[in-house]
Amino acid sequence: MKVLLIGSGGREHALAWKLAQSPLMTEFYAAPGNPGIAEHARLVSLKIEDHEAVAAFCAQKAIDFVVVGPEAPLVAGLADHLRADGLTVFGPSAAAAQLEGSKGFTKDICARYNIPTGAYQRFNNAPKAKAYIREQGAPIVVKADGLAAGKGVTVAMTVEEALAAVDDCFEGAFGAAGAEVVIEAFLDGEEASFFCLCDGRNALPLATAQDHKRVGEGDTGVNTGGMGAYSPAPVMTAEMIERTMKEIIEPTIYGMAESGYPFSGVFFAGLMITAKGPELIEYNVRFGDPECQVLMMRLKSDLLPLLLAAAEGTLDKVTAEWSDDPALTVVMASKGYPGPYEKNTPILSLPEAGVGAKVFHAGTSLRDGELVATGGRVLNVTATGRTVGEAQSRAYALLDKVEWENGFCRRDIGWRAIERERA
Ligand code: AMP
Ligand code: GLY
Repeated sequence: MKVLLIGSGGREHALAWKLAQSPLMTEFYAAPGNPGIAEHARLVSLKIEDHEAVAAFCAQKAIDFVVVGPEAPLVAGLADHLRADGLTVFGPSAAAAQLEGSKGFTKDICARYNIPTGAYQRFNNAPKAKAYIREQGAPIVVKADGLAAGKGVTVAMTVEEALAAVDDCFEGAFGAAGAEVVIEAFLDGEEASFFCLCDGRNALPLATAQDHKRVGEGDTGVNTGGMGAYSPAPVMTAEMIERTMKEIIEPTIYGMAESGYPFSGVFFAGLMITAKGPELIEYNVRFGDPECQVLMMRLKSDLLPLLLAAAEGTLDKVTAEWSDDPALTVVMASKGYPGPYEKNTPILSLPEAGVGAKVFHAGTSLRDGELVATGGRVLNVTATGRTVGEAQSRAYALLDKVEWENGFCRRDIGWRAIERERA
């Protein structure tokens, strides 16, 4: 099978590493890819926003299957364009990708199909939004409706903070994403991520993970795309997974199909496990980054037939096997991230990772044959272990061998799970 993978981050390196192991793979391309992905696939310098160019490449190489990694091309309709050309694609249509592209859309689906989530209202102007906040009181959550690279959410502990967040949105802090605002009840509990493949009708639960969104140790400081993650999430017991499937995922599949937007691809449900049980914080329509990296370390089955089954509507005919051993990944980022940071700093050497360990490339490039850091999040140092604690020790031992002056990381990834293990 000839496969094209779209994307260039750590998530795509993990997908590429796993896909390349498939006996079904005959030719493997990635666009635009990165130096880590280049170990597994031939890189193609396509502009992903140019759907016509991607389609032309697929025709030229007689590509059988396209796997789309990030959300932006999905929301922009790349999967629709390629499907219209007769290609098989992993990833939802633009209409179904609204589940990630519009928080208001998702909240409306939740309301219509009785999916547990925080009570909410949508607003397109500041005065009404502010009146609602004053009426509800704090804590309360203010969200820009559209894609804001993870920065459009304010969990306000005071009314003043919430009012200021409303002003930020309507004054254009998040561009078009903030033209509409969702105001939502604060949910109290422990967060977890749940991943599940869907083919429009059938679902195949994958695995759970927890990430560390904040830049600082002890989960402090500003939000980032994620500074590390581990899988499985201890809070997601078998009972919580079953409830998530019944109360959240199944009604979403039904609701999306009934609304005329059948969903195929991966559901990445951001959950809050509250005293009442699982409640939906948000949906993403692609694998998490860096959650994907830990999922791929634990997946024992061949990934290619699973993604293909999601794309072809045959998920009821496949199963996935997982290692019980936890996996943990630590993100190494450029100093300054998520603020401004220096680009093109040299990465002098990367350690050899043994079995059950892997350094994924997220924001690297080759310049004159030398590896340099070009992104905010640059490397994902990943390891498995019999416990989260062991996976953590192995990941940091590997990370300490990375020679990159301008890199930094959190030293406490997995702390919550490790505290549980010690208790
Ligand atoms: P989101 O971009 O929707 O994932 O939100 C970013 C983060 O804000 C989440 O990971 C949560 O930590 C927090 N958050 C979002 N919505 C809520 C909510 N209703 N209650 C409490 N925390 C929330
Ligand atoms: N790590 C969070 C995300 O991929 O959205």
